[in-house]
Amino acid sequence: MIIEFNIIKKHTIILLIIISFFACNSDNSSFSNDIIDKKVDSLLNIMTLDEKIGQMNQYNGFWDITGPSPKNGQAKNKYQNLKNGLVGSMLNVRGVDEITALQKIAVEETRLGIPLIIGNDVIHGYKTISPIPLAEAASWDLKEIENSAKIAAIEASAAGTNWTFAPMVDISRDARWGRVMEGAGEDPFLGSLIAVARIKGFQGEDLSKHNTIAATAKHLAAYGFSESGKDYNTVDISKNTLYNIVFPPFIASINQGVKSVMNSFNELDGIPATGNFFLQRTLLKGEWNFDGFVVSDWGSIREMIPHGYARDADHATEIAIEAGSDMDMESNLYVNKLKKLVELGKVDISLINDAVSRILRVKFELGLFDDPYRYLNSKREKELINHPNHHKAVLEMAKKSIVLLKNENQLLPLKKTNQSIALIGALANDNNSPLGNWRPSSDNNTAVTVLDGMKKYPNNKLIYKKGADVILNKGGVVKFAEKIMINENDKSGFNAARIAARTADVVVMVLGEDGFQSGEGRSRAQIDIPGVQQELLEEIFKINKNIVLVLMNGRPLNINWADKNIPAIVEAWQLGSQTGNAIAQVLYGDYNPSGKLPMSFPRSVGQIPIYYNHKNTGRPGPKNIVFWSHYNDELNSPLYPFGYGLSYTTFNYSNLKMDSKVLNFKSSINISVDIQNTGNFKGKEVVQLYIKDRFASVTRPIKELKGFDLVELDIGETKTIKFQINESLLRFYSKNEVWESEPGFFDFYIGTDSNATLKNSFELIK
Ligand code: NOJ
Repeated sequence: MIIEFNIIKKHTIILLIIISFFACNSDNSSFSNDIIDKKVDSLLNIMTLDEKIGQMNQYNGFWDITGPSPKNGQAKNKYQNLKNGLVGSMLNVRGVDEITALQKIAVEETRLGIPLIIGNDVIHGYKTISPIPLAEAASWDLKEIENSAKIAAIEASAAGTNWTFAPMVDISRDARWGRVMEGAGEDPFLGSLIAVARIKGFQGEDLSKHNTIAATAKHLAAYGFSESGKDYNTVDISKNTLYNIVFPPFIASINQGVKSVMNSFNELDGIPATGNFFLQRTLLKGEWNFDGFVVSDWGSIREMIPHGYARDADHATEIAIEAGSDMDMESNLYVNKLKKLVELGKVDISLINDAVSRILRVKFELGLFDDPYRYLNSKREKELINHPNHHKAVLEMAKKSIVLLKNENQLLPLKKTNQSIALIGALANDNNSPLGNWRPSSDNNTAVTVLDGMKKYPNNKLIYKKGADVILNKGGVVKFAEKIMINENDKSGFNAARIAARTADVVVMVLGEDGFQSGEGRSRAQIDIPGVQQELLEEIFKINKNIVLVLMNGRPLNINWADKNIPAIVEAWQLGSQTGNAIAQVLYGDYNPSGKLPMSFPRSVGQIPIYYNHKNTGRPGPKNIVFWSHYNDELNSPLYPFGYGLSYTTFNYSNLKMDSKVLNFKSSINISVDIQNTGNFKGKEVVQLYIKDRFASVTRPIKELKGFDLVELDIGETKTIKFQINESLLRFYSKNEVWESEPGFFDFYIGTDSNATLKNSFELIK
């Protein structure tokens, strides 16, 4: 339906007309979808080519908060473009004041007054920081993960953000890659469920509410398979792995209604993802029916030039729009090049219309046209940022994210009275590193330290000694993207640490990575505990063997020596604002850990990529000869497998039952297993179900996670856990290049981790 408009000076009126023309509230979502489509079409009809291209342009923040004066030449240009209606979105602008000022220009000074959509990297919290995503994944607690994303959305939206560039749903098998901290680990089944939980948390039930925000599934695709774990590197991946491992979390995200997808920096089959027609149009917008919009990654349109895929800027622009990239994040190419390309007939206007419609649709869904200032309320911002309830929630999330890797002689939990505890390690008194690297909206130095958390147990004697820095010459606050200088030689603190350890009943050593040692651009070729910390650990061990090693890190580390020698090891990742409280409560047994590793821990870098769901190969053994698939100098198995994690209590699995050994395409098999708490603490366990497809038209993994249940058991209690297997659980991307299951024999395993041994089998028949 086309409406005739006179362009009036206060252009918002035009939008009001469009909105009121179709104003009609209905619970019927397909009806309201139709209404949004009509609103989008009407708006599109009155937009000039410039205005359309403007919607496809996203700028990084440039606003000078002290006034509207631009900071430099580039900023001036951007500012002018904003006034001219040539900006559809901004990122890295934060807070109600700053965003209101920008939104005012977009709404009140441009011809059509189309509001901006404001995107930010709200990855694991806004101001109140939850654990890094990899840590949250270790909880296997989908409700808590959803809640964590919800809290992030509440804070971000209260501060003017209505779109996050999260969740990162990239599967990765390579601990060298710095961004494993941002994902859910190595498994597509767990990764898909976590992606869905996060999207639910961010987007809620109703995107137009002022406390929900649009989510982004990123990075399409296979970014987590960067060769040798080096960020931004080439990806060379088989179709089999792409479909069966990489795509499932994206497909799950789209089915969950994620509003945007970000493409990736890497190439795929020689074609950069940003210029990849097959990925973005054939699959995403075609087969997968994605109705949101695609945002490029930062500068990735322009990067097709150094990739050697685009001749020049014009060419890069043309490739990107044709391939389906709808919004240009900071390449500044759409805004500068697209118009000419359309006029020359090189880019069809229908591509622009499609991209703009997709972007406008999400703006409508966010309610920005009903009220562009919907997310801009200073009172709400003041009330909700760092709200005590949010800190309570991230504390819960943090405790659930901790994984107990080793606990010999029940060194943990610590006794609460009459103990002398030596706490050692720079990270124990670090209030910045636990926030991780990916929290651009939070305030530096705001995490509760382990030292402060442990002080809350006053009936023990606590001595703290740094021992050694992780980073040399930190010089105050470590800024985002600041260069990391590892302490490779300063051992001046060793002696004081030795003295403290000598008389202690227990030594708690907090060692690992600085918060800025993982994340984007922060790949590592060595994944040892960095600097002189390993040496410090070995020195203290000579003096006192009662060591609890608490690891803080954004990726699996190589901890072979510690695993052999140190009696208790706790994987505490980077747990966010409430780090110290979470760790202390776990160390003292006020919370019994139940986390399970979402990524295998290698024994050495040489084993990488290492993952539980590998193929069998033609030579899996016999192991008493040389000619089988193995290393001569290392075991094949990881140090700690996927799904692994201990508790202060123990669990016994027994009585595996199934109600049928045959499955057809309509039936299901009911499986049950008894699990008993056989230890001395109430505790939680993640009961895991793995399935192995013995033989298929393409080779299949040795096992795949297909179900899990998080159960809590009192001391001595037994529960019966049930799983149901049906045909859809057995589907994979087959030789026929479709998702299907194939009749035949399957084994299944139930247990405490990916080495689960309780086993039975069934046959799938047509
Ligand atoms: C580059 C990263 O790859 C992407 O994940 C992020 O959202 C953008 N920068 C924006 O900061």
